[in-house]
Amino acid sequence: MRILHSELKLSEIKPLPYFATWPKIKSAIGLDARIEKRIAEILDQMTLAEKIGQMIQPELAQLTPEEAGRYKFGSALNGAGITPNGNRHTNAHEWVATVDAYWQAVYEAFADRPFHIPFMWATDAVHGHNNVFRATIFPHNIGLGAARSPDLIRRIGKATALEISVTGMDWTFAPTVTTPRDYRWGRHYEGYSEDPEIVYAYAAPMVEGLQGDGANNELTDPAHVIACVKHWLGDGGTMHGIDRGNCRSHEDVLRNIHAAGYYSGLAAGAQSIMISFSGWEHPDNYDHSPGLGAPYNYKMAGSRYLITDVLKNQIGFDGLVLTDWDAHFEVARCTLGNAGYVINAGVDVLMVSARKAWQSIYELTQQQVHDGIIPMARIDDAVTRILRVKMRAGLWDKPRPSERSYAGREELLGCAAHRALAREAVRKSLVLLKNANGVLPLARAQRVLITGSAANNIQKQTGGWTLSWQGADVTLEDLPGASTLAMAVRSVVGESHCCVDSTLELINTDAFDVAIVAIGEDSYAEMRGTIRPWHSLEYAKLKTSYARDLQILRELKQRGIRIVTVFFSGRPLYVNEEINLSDAFVAAWLPGTEAVGITDVLFANEHGEVAYDFVGRLGHLWPRRKHSVAINRRPPHIPHFVVPDDEQSAVGEHEPLFSYGYGLTYKSTSAERNVDLIPLDEMQTHEYVPSATQSLPILDHVNNMYRWRIMGHNTWSGVDVSFSEPCDALTMHTEPINYLGVRDALKIRFKGNVSFIFVHYDVAVDYRSFIATGAIQFDVKVLVPPDAPLYLACHDDYPSQPV
Ligand code: BGC
Repeated sequence: MRILHSELKLSEIKPLPYFATWPKIKSAIGLDARIEKRIAEILDQMTLAEKIGQMIQPELAQLTPEEAGRYKFGSALNGAGITPNGNRHTNAHEWVATVDAYWQAVYEAFADRPFHIPFMWATDAVHGHNNVFRATIFPHNIGLGAARSPDLIRRIGKATALEISVTGMDWTFAPTVTTPRDYRWGRHYEGYSEDPEIVYAYAAPMVEGLQGDGANNELTDPAHVIACVKHWLGDGGTMHGIDRGNCRSHEDVLRNIHAAGYYSGLAAGAQSIMISFSGWEHPDNYDHSPGLGAPYNYKMAGSRYLITDVLKNQIGFDGLVLTDWDAHFEVARCTLGNAGYVINAGVDVLMVSARKAWQSIYELTQQQVHDGIIPMARIDDAVTRILRVKMRAGLWDKPRPSERSYAGREELLGCAAHRALAREAVRKSLVLLKNANGVLPLARAQRVLITGSAANNIQKQTGGWTLSWQGADVTLEDLPGASTLAMAVRSVVGESHCCVDSTLELINTDAFDVAIVAIGEDSYAEMRGTIRPWHSLEYAKLKTSYARDLQILRELKQRGIRIVTVFFSGRPLYVNEEINLSDAFVAAWLPGTEAVGITDVLFANEHGEVAYDFVGRLGHLWPRRKHSVAINRRPPHIPHFVVPDDEQSAVGEHEPLFSYGYGLTYKSTSAERNVDLIPLDEMQTHEYVPSATQSLPILDHVNNMYRWRIMGHNTWSGVDVSFSEPCDALTMHTEPINYLGVRDALKIRFKGNVSFIFVHYDVAVDYRSFIATGAIQFDVKVLVPPDAPLYLACHDDYPSQPV
């Protein structure tokens, strides 16, 4: 394992304390007797329906201003990539007008009441105000973690809050304070580090940047917004890195590894917490209403233990707790239209996407209160918390969104100062892994060939959560002012000294002094980015285009040109050969739009001197072997730490290539810079290829490994279809029938709304061997001709994933 002396000098990151029990956290925003009194007065006058309205948070695409007013909703969100009228280029004025229309409708709805409750708008500003055209795009958290600078994080939080204010919004679902422990998880990059120390050090400054200084009431300023630490708890600790999977960690690991960011984030005054889609499979995570229907499946949204007992009672969090997108539906005891179990677990706000679902929850929750299933005290606790957060954010005193100080100030979105900050963040996030013979810094007068799949690819730099959910379809037109690495290099060396050839079609490379090879992962967000069980961490085996990157490096090496590789990725991957073939190798993570921050460091200044040194340090262990999927630094703050079953010991077989804190600089010694040839891991990736001669029974209720589910528009989960009894979902009715006396079949009735019926398998399976010979065979009998289109589709995953 390569260790540098410099790794010991991480002075800005303070050691993390150990907690033997759940600590009580004192928030910078304490209880205020006047606020509590006002809340109690309003609560007293509210009807049950008004209370439930506060607790439901629909989504822009499934809510009109008129509905927001009619139901007196407390908040709404715009989900990833969802914009007014589907226009990705919506400007600040249009965003403000949209938010304003909802605010106004809710305001008017209280006209005949002796009180009013302001509406608030939430968004996912997770690396800048990333759903908004022209906003500054900062590096994703994984890169920020490498920068090791809490001060930088605070300034990014502040800039992001200002840009959110420009669009009239009140609340961001950030920071993500996950501590991802398995590189296969597709949300790995949303975490600052695999190590709780960095997450702990960063959560507070990010919350302070977003919300301002809690003690000085800065959250009420027009330039600050409500922060949300997410996703409570153990989202980064699921078995095999499965997105939304179950974490089986010991409680001590939850408390000292996965909860670290919450302690500092809440101490800094974070006012909201989002509950994870994942579960905690542990007997302490008890079923709070046993005996009613299916057994509780440990999903966090239903965890009374971790939400009420731990978070609210022991830690003492007094802000609001909300579910993730339709996450009530992950809980066995809930349906899309019934969130009673989740409310009883302690959730205050339900993020519900589909109109039919929120309509149902709105009615059913009231009924459940009347029937005594949900205690009125629970509803009052939820609404008290919601109103408390709104009051602490000064929402009663703030004018309507369009009249706020920064609203509509388009010139602040992506302004020069914020872009300069993003560029600084990029510079600081780069980790230099190798610099043989001092190939870097590059002289400006060089003739540069720039190649590789990421040479001129903005999506690989910006990653998921960038104007779209998966980020895979954004273009340079969507990101004005952005530069790809090729553009940045060209602006340094000049058009005539630079040739961009992403796939290396050039035959003659003699005309160049150096090749910059930009390679890296395609953009992804949740679900799509998770590495499947039949893959290892081997970059070149993940996709054919990544294999081509390795081929390019081999060809260039043969031609004898000096190679500087820049690697964009949402996680460390196995790249031993790529490093061996390169003279210099830079881990650039997902830097965003400001590739100029990369050239700032790669190139010397006009006088041939170092312009900026590398300061980034690994916030991870870098794997030496293809199967070192879950290696992590041994947490020094946990006494007698035992590596959990779902992680791998970093000693012995899985000893990493580079240690936590590793990162070369221009001052590193030549022995440090010239990384020796790294032995290749010869282990062949185990490929499970089922025989294509077998048939796969899909609609077979006896041996059914598949689940049939019904799904509404815009939701990612579904209602389970039963093969023994009828199933009545909001959008569809199904009935098991015997078809032609031989087969199991379903009779399906669509109820007039967009609806899907689908079959899926919970675990990803490799069916590539069926591609050439396979056919999916089933019969459809149309009993009543449809009056709207009916589509058949086949996905390899949700969302569908290109190879
Ligand atoms: C993600 C959250 C996000 C929410 C709203 C979910 O799918 O897990 O992180 O805040 O969507 O867009």
